[in-house]
Amino acid sequence: MRVDINAVQRVYRRYAPAYDFYFGVMFQPGREEIVERMNCHPGERILEVGVGTGLSLPLYPRHVEVTGIDLSREMLVRARARRRRQRLDQVVALRLMDAEHMQFADNSFDKVVAMYVVSVTPHPACMTAEMSRVCKPGGQLFIVNHFQHPNSLVSGIERLVAPFSRVMGFRPDYSLEHFIRDTRLDVEMRIPVNALGYWTMLRCRNNKEATANIPPIQALA
Ligand SMILES: C[S@@+](CC[C@H](N)C(=O)[O-])C[C@H]1O[C@@H](n2cnc3c(N)ncnc32)[C@H](O)[C@@H]1O
Repeated sequence: MRVDINAVQRVYRRYAPAYDFYFGVMFQPGREEIVERMNCHPGERILEVGVGTGLSLPLYPRHVEVTGIDLSREMLVRARARRRRQRLDQVVALRLMDAEHMQFADNSFDKVVAMYVVSVTPHPACMTAEMSRVCKPGGQLFIVNHFQHPNSLVSGIERLVAPFSRVMGFRPDYSLEHFIRDTRLDVEMRIPVNALGYWTMLRCRNNKEATANIPPIQALA
């Protein structure tokens, strides 16, 4: 069963109070790796889509300008509290916004990143097309996510639990191959991250010609 926006908001309203406890430490190596690989330069404008409770925000250097967006009010409340508590002045805005229909102008950011959002958002290819639109030509897109495991036993289990995607708030069985085909992303680097390399980090060149013609609602393979 497919995830939809209402299901995302409902699930993350429920997860928000305990999100950091369950998904903080476990996913942190992937967040650290991706921010390090972003190699942020002074003055760069960074957009993080699906920023959640803002666990990544303290990782960004002080010399950049970070904007975060998320669909879930409850997750954002926590991200805003973190920004205040830790005086994260590099975080210039945290806004309630759908990453599949962003309110930013074309070419607004140098780098755009999505951490653990691809298997949550209803239409991943719409999200990446929007990431590409708001990123400058020749900028970079960064993604970390779990994709279907290459081992047939593990992927069999992932397929078994996939019908519960709406309840879990993510789909476990989206293959990297289908993701790259659907999104037409120009992948420059892929590396395994987190425990057992079960998650994948992608660095992509922002190739606007390739992503410009993604249909408005891209169905999942
Ligand atoms: C698994 S959490 C990841 C949160 C954060 N990136 C992290 O590293 O912990 C997925 C987040 O993506 C958000 N999300 C899912 N679909 C979205 C969309 N279309 N637009 C904006 N946020 C979205 C959810 O509300 C949730 O906060």
